[in-house]
Amino acid sequence: MLSLSERDFQRLVNFVKTNYGINLEHKQQLIAGRLSNVITSMGYNTFSEYIDHILSRKSPEDIEIMLNKLTTNYTYFMREEAHFDYFRTTVLPWLEQTKKNRVLSIWSAGCSSGQEPYTLSMILKDYFGSKTGMWDTRVLATDISQNVLDTAAAAEYEEESLRNLPAGWKGKYFRKSSKPGFYTVADCIKSNVIFRRFNLMEPIRFKLQFDVIFCRNVMIYFDQPTKEALVKRFYDSTVPGGYLFIGHSESLPKSNIDYKYVIPAAYRK
Ligand SMILES: C[S@@+](CC[C@H](N)C(=O)[O-])C[C@H]1O[C@@H](n2cnc3c(N)ncnc32)[C@H](O)[C@@H]1O
Repeated sequence: MLSLSERDFQRLVNFVKTNYGINLEHKQQLIAGRLSNVITSMGYNTFSEYIDHILSRKSPEDIEIMLNKLTTNYTYFMREEAHFDYFRTTVLPWLEQTKKNRVLSIWSAGCSSGQEPYTLSMILKDYFGSKTGMWDTRVLATDISQNVLDTAAAAEYEEESLRNLPAGWKGKYFRKSSKPGFYTVADCIKSNVIFRRFNLMEPIRFKLQFDVIFCRNVMIYFDQPTKEALVKRFYDSTVPGGYLFIGHSESLPKSNIDYKYVIPAAYRK
């Protein structure tokens, strides 16, 4: 493993925090461990040379590779299931009643390898059933890491990872992949999710305001001011009455936020 001096560590920490919101202040070992091989395979001998190269911003591809290595993408189907129950039993009936134009606007922000937006897409399909065609239920799914977005778009998951889904969904919403032991998300679920690369540090400029934003287990890597600024941007991009879901291990400061608490880790405008 290459050695990472305190000065180089701080340079990289500042760059990643300022541009991508991710706080790596206590992750010196993780950085050294995850980047050493990348650095040597690129032909650099030291962290110093590599960090000079990254900070020069000459190669967006190399910044991308670095972010792919440093972000933590752990996720699974039906994660924090209470949110999905609430979405189905409270949020969707509200939307069904109030959205006269039948266009929903749902965002999975920090979607990782797709399990969260595909879970939402399956719930939507299940909820609207034969009325699905009368509604626009597309889910926007964004992440900063192109690696995870490519995995999400491939939509192939190990059979074992489908175990948390309700009985019958494997048969209804997946088909066996040509890869042994893997299943592929069915087209009717897949085509309802739009994947895009988006850095949550940037201004939110999507066409519609959102009815529901899921941004779960993403802000754990952000410091307090970054988190508060992002929640403010989310609030401005939410329709009146719309919802924000965050991870159960995350919290929003009670002061400084305009959303109202509804259930653990879920808020309403
Ligand atoms: C642990 S995953 C969460 C996945 C899913 N939301 C869940 O709860 O299971 C966190 C994701 O946030 C993404 N992420 C981190 N910083 C980001 C940023 N500044 N902009 C967009 N996505 C970011 C990471 O790439 C990663 O895929």
